[in-house]
Amino acid sequence: MASSKTITVEVDDVSYTDDVEPRLLLVQYLRERLGKTGTLIGCDTTNCGACTVHLDGVSVKSCTMFAVQADGHQVTTIEGMATDGKLAPLQEAFHQCHALQCGFCTPGMIMQSASLLKENPHPSEAEIRDGLEGNLCRCTGYQNIVAAVKSVADGVEYGDSGVSASLEDAQNAGVS
Ligand code: FES
Ligand code: FES
Repeated sequence: MASSKTITVEVDDVSYTDDVEPRLLLVQYLRERLGKTGTLIGCDTTNCGACTVHLDGVSVKSCTMFAVQADGHQVTTIEGMATDGKLAPLQEAFHQCHALQCGFCTPGMIMQSASLLKENPHPSEAEIRDGLEGNLCRCTGYQNIVAAVKSVADGVEYGDSGVSASLEDAQNAGVS
C-alpha cells in the first residue's frame, strides 16, 4: 500500500492538515474526512458535475483530482458560499426561481455558475447554457436554472430568504 502524505488545504476559510493516501480523491477527502457533504458524487465517469468545487477560485470537478493535488491550495465548497448565515446571491436566486427539484445537482450547479459569472459577469442565455454544459440535471429541464443565473447577472435583488422577487422577475430580466 502506498504510504500516506501530509497535506495542508484551506477549505472554506479553515486550514486543515491531514495524512491522506495518495489515491484518495479530493471529493472523498471533502466528504469523508472534513464532513463537507454538500459536495456530492453523482457519477463515476466525471460527467455529472455534482462534485464541483472551486480550487483557488476556479471550478473543478473534485472527483477528477486527488486530495494530494490540493495540497497548499484553497478550496471552496457549497458550504463556504454563504457568509454570516446569509445565502450567496446565486443560492437565493436558485431558491427564489425554483431552480431545483431533488436538489442533487444544485451544489455543483451553483459552484459552476459562480465560476461562470466570475469569468463573464453578463452572460447571454446561450452562454449560461454553454457554461453549465458539464453539469447535469435530471429533474428541471434547466430552464429555471438558467433563469436563476441570468437573474443574478442582471442584478435582480432577492431578499434574505424572503420572497422579494420571483421567477417572473427573473424571466422579465431576460430569460424566456
Ligand atoms: S461525481 Fe460526477 S462529475 Fe464528479
Ligand atoms: S434538481 Fe434533481 S438533478 Fe437537478
